[in-house]
Formats: sequence, structure tokens, C-alpha cells
Amino acid sequence: MKILIINGSPKKKGMISQMLGIMQDEAEQRGDMVQMVYTNNLTIKPCVGCMACRTKQKCAIAEDDSQRVLKIMQEADAIIMGAPCYWGNIPGQMKLLFDRIVYGMMRDTPRFPEPLMKGKRCILLSTCTTPWPWNIWFKQSRGAIRAMREICRYSGFKIVATIERGGTVMHPQLSEKDKQKCRKAIKQL
Ligand SMILES: Cc1cc2nc3c(=O)[nH]c(=O)nc-3n(C[C@H](O)[C@H](O)[C@H](O)COP(=O)(O)O)c2cc1C
Repeated sequence: MKILIINGSPKKKGMISQMLGIMQDEAEQRGDMVQMVYTNNLTIKPCVGCMACRTKQKCAIAEDDSQRVLKIMQEADAIIMGAPCYWGNIPGQMKLLFDRIVYGMMRDTPRFPEPLMKGKRCILLSTCTTPWPWNIWFKQSRGAIRAMREICRYSGFKIVATIERGGTVMHPQLSEKDKQKCRKAIKQL
């Protein structure tokens, strides 16, 4: 199986990166081909909102890393998205990526959007400093998960697992239970 990991954290040793690393190791051990993309390493111009891509199925802006990631996504069987919660949402650089590749993920029709990623599975992961259960109640990590869920729903991904880890300042070390959740999620792909 080909798996694309989209790492939305700028911190290569942060909690998102550690958890995605566990999932990558687990997947590779069972023979999957895994590619990790760090959104902060990508050069992506922001969407200009012209909507031309909705009719032309091509972005009007000159090609950049967003199209490169879209191609990897199209060839992948499954994706894993990991995003720290920033302002109750996903980080801006990750949002930039998805804004630029809407046309490759769903097609506008007069009625309902047609999902273009159908058949692919997906795991969503988010972390935040707000401790449990407030990270859920006050839509902190839950806000980031909601934003990724929206992208997945309209593009047709089947979400097989979501992981939320609050309290990253109070409890900066991953527990055995956290690690176990990551390994278990991979089994769902
Ligand atoms: C710009 C910015 C905005 C943030 N916004 C929130 C927030 O709204 N709620 C929250 O609980 N934590 C917030 N945080 C804290 C991060 O979610 C937290 O540090 C997270 O665990 C970082 O994960 P990482 O180390 O894997 O990158 C924010 C951090 C930054 C840098």
C-alpha cells in the first residue's frame, strides 16, 4: 500500500512529528511504501480565488509544490494528515496546500460536489496545549480535526481513525497509550 503522510507541524521533533513517525515505522514494518511531506518545507502561493480551476480542472497560478503533493495524493492508497491546532484550526501553511488543490480533490457540479479521492482511506491527527476534555469541549484539537474532516468529506476519503492529544505543555511526553493509539490506527488503513 502507498501511504502519503502530510505533516502540518513546523516542528520536526514536536508531538505531531513523533506520532506520525510511529505510524510511519509501523506501516513500513508491514511493507507499506510511505512518503512524508512537511507542509512547512513546501513553496506554495496562496489561492487567488478566481475559481477558474472549477471549470478548467487546472490551477491558474504557475505550478508549484501544491501540484506535486496532489500528484502523490492521487497515486496514494491512503493518507494520514497530522496538524497541531492553531487558533482552533489547522496551521495556515497546511490550509494553503488544500486551497490550491481543490480542483484535484472534488469536482463542482450543478448539484453536489463530486469527490475525486473515493476509495482512499485516511487517518486524522491533531495535538494542542489545551488539556482534555477542554480540547474537545472548546473545539481546540477538535477544531483542527473538524477542518480536516471537512476536506476529507468533500473529497471522498474514508476516515478510519482520528487521534486527538491535548495538554502538550502539561504532558509533553508521549505515553505508552498514545503510542498504542498510533499503532492501532495504522491497522485500520
Ligand atoms: C500559532 C499557534 C497557535 C496555536 N493555537 C492554539 C489553540 O488555538 N489552542 C491550543 O490548545 N493550542 C494552540 N497552540 C499550541 C499548539 O497546538 C501546541 O503547541 C501543539 O502541541 C504543537 O504541536 P507540535 O509540537 O506537534 O507542532 C498554538 C500554537 C501556535 C504556534
